Amino acid sequence: MNEVFDAAILGAGAAGLMAAATARKGGASVVVLDHAAEPGRKILISGGGRCNFTNLDAKAENFLSANRHFMRSALAGYTPRDFLALVERHGIGWQEKAEGQLFCSESARDIVSLLLREAEGCVLRFNTPIRGVTAGDVFRVQTDAGEVQARSLVLATGGLSIPKLGASDLSLRIARQFGLEIVKTVPGLVPLTLETPLPDLAGVSLPVRASIGKTGFTDGMVFTHRGLSGPAILQISSYQDGPLDAPAIDMMPGRDARSALGEIKKARPRAEPTSLLQDLPQRLARHIASNTLADLDCTLANLPDKRIIALAEQIGRWRPRLSGTEGYAKAEVMKGGIDTRALLSKTLESRDVPGLFAIGEAVDVTGWLGGYNFQWAWSSGVAAGRAI
Ligand code: FDA
Repeated sequence: MNEVFDAAILGAGAAGLMAAATARKGGASVVVLDHAAEPGRKILISGGGRCNFTNLDAKAENFLSANRHFMRSALAGYTPRDFLALVERHGIGWQEKAEGQLFCSESARDIVSLLLREAEGCVLRFNTPIRGVTAGDVFRVQTDAGEVQARSLVLATGGLSIPKLGASDLSLRIARQFGLEIVKTVPGLVPLTLETPLPDLAGVSLPVRASIGKTGFTDGMVFTHRGLSGPAILQISSYQDGPLDAPAIDMMPGRDARSALGEIKKARPRAEPTSLLQDLPQRLARHIASNTLADLDCTLANLPDKRIIALAEQIGRWRPRLSGTEGYAKAEVMKGGIDTRALLSKTLESRDVPGLFAIGEAVDVTGWLGGYNFQWAWSSGVAAGRAI
């Protein structure tokens, strides 16, 4: 007769392995199923190969969700400091890059090894495509290698970003099958594409403030062959109301562009109008000058104020015309997912289907850039693992 496990966990990624390890330590028998050949492939490529595994300042405000309080309980139950302590117990070196953002000193592989050591005693089955799930007295998971039975089922197959790494909508489909609602899914933390790309500027980077409404991020922006990327752009992309909703981009963050240009005019009255752009990267300055100042044959002193005001508007409140985003192929995360209203915030268990859990990126909880998404994976995984 088939063994009935206490828990079958779908997805051997960050959240799934964390839930597996926690449940196992609590005495549960656990099987983890994944269609990939190895665990944690997104962990391996994350943080440029160094995995930004947490953010010490992670709090509910750093997440997007239809219920902005939902993540509080899980984050409080397993904090960034808890994960850091685990990293240290495993002797893994770490570095704080930007404030609060912790990365492995050596390799993201150290985090996957940590998870596998923690999950010792769990049955891990890779190369195992999942055909479907049915529920009766127990959950029955149909796989290409036969049926797996378990008293609890954990949906942990992540989001839709990077399909070439095996991302799929399996958790969303199973959730729907059990009557759980799905909050509309869209790419998050994603580069934007321009209606008229600026390939000549590809590689130019500068600090900006990118804002939509009252939300703004001051950080780097980089021009790509097709559009705009860099941390400020990725962050604000998660706040777009549709892929054409362009952020306002301030290329002189922290300064008022109009007064900054006025000061340059006052300080260098005999200089050419292009000197107004002296604080921008040269290639970008040349590009803006050729579009806005090329017809001028005068000194700064003779430049009409209305031209300065128009230029200041372009530098301080650039509204790029977008053709969309780079989509899931380049998005770091999926926004939206399994509706949190269907889940208990303390355990991530379904309110209506006892034994069914959903964790990690499959759930409608999306973190900012900077280690928040992994912290959600750890916290939600532990919350479910403790409840199994
Ligand atoms: P995750 O994607 O980790 O795991 C899902 C697992 O389910 C995978 O093993 C997959 O193979 C499996 N699976 C999927 N479909 C299946 C199916 N149909 N059948 C069986 N198995 C299936 N975050 C952060 O905090 N810091 C960072 O540095 C980065 N960096 C980063 C870089 C890049 C390029 C990307 C794409 C993403 C990041 N992220 C990040 C985001 C982070 O990787 C992500 O939020 C977590 O991995 C989500 O953890 P989950 O366990 O939910 O899914």
